[in-house]
Amino acid sequence: MLEINNVNKFYSDGIRKLHVLKNINLVVDKNDFISIQGPSGAGKSTLLHIIGGLDKPDDGNIFFNKKDIYNMKDYVLANLRNKVFGFVFQFYHLLPEFTVLENVILPGLISKNYKKKELIRKAKNILESVNMQHRFNYMPNQISGGEQQRVAIARAMILEPEILLCDEPTGNLDSNNAQHICELLTYLHNQEKQTIIIVTHQKSMSSIAKRQLFIEDGRIYQYKREV
Ligand SMILES: Nc1ncnc2c1ncn2[C@@H]1O[C@H](COP(=O)(O)OP(=O)(O)OP(=O)(O)O)[C@@H](O)[C@H]1O
Ligand SMILES: [Mg+2]
Repeated sequence: MLEINNVNKFYSDGIRKLHVLKNINLVVDKNDFISIQGPSGAGKSTLLHIIGGLDKPDDGNIFFNKKDIYNMKDYVLANLRNKVFGFVFQFYHLLPEFTVLENVILPGLISKNYKKKELIRKAKNILESVNMQHRFNYMPNQISGGEQQRVAIARAMILEPEILLCDEPTGNLDSNNAQHICELLTYLHNQEKQTIIIVTHQKSMSSIAKRQLFIEDGRIYQYKREV
């Protein structure tokens, strides 16, 4: 379904060129559930952004159903980002001028495939599933970090994406809510046959996945590298 082929990414800090991702190769199957664990600065967010069509690699390709996503026309890639990928950002990126409910229905309004009434019904159900039924009409700056994180998860789920990409989805949650999100992701994978990739530095989060991978110094490993 998804093939990450020899991906390299460089950043410059003004003085030196940083080699952030080094020859990353990964094949993601339908209904896969992959976790990528690694320390802060290892390149997890960078890799997830590249996989989700948000940031072009300097070298290498991402194939979705055999098509190179960075060789697509901009509007085709934009459509893919809206309909195929559901992205939970590490820092949520909720739109500050919209309510919780509006933030969640927004991808649906953009996709134009749903009636607003249907979207609202769906959004309310999903917000309930992440324990956010008490904050529909709050603004993002009126809710806590963990609550924003749960809204970001709901927003990523609204269009039932083919692939759910989660960047530290429980990074800001207390243990009860983190446990709840782990159960929700496990349910989506087992019952709804959702394809999921999560990146995290938490072992407890990582261990819910079917395949656990590790990233360190920009390289990906099947097993934890002994250092
Ligand atoms: N826009 C940028 N410009 C320059 N360097 C960057 C940029 N974005 C990331 N980096 C660097 O690339 C490296 C990987 O960053 P990335 O955000 O992918 O790490 P991460 O594994 O997600 O870390 P964390 O667990 O803290 O979220 C870091 O050393 C970071 O400083
Ligand atoms: Mg990160």
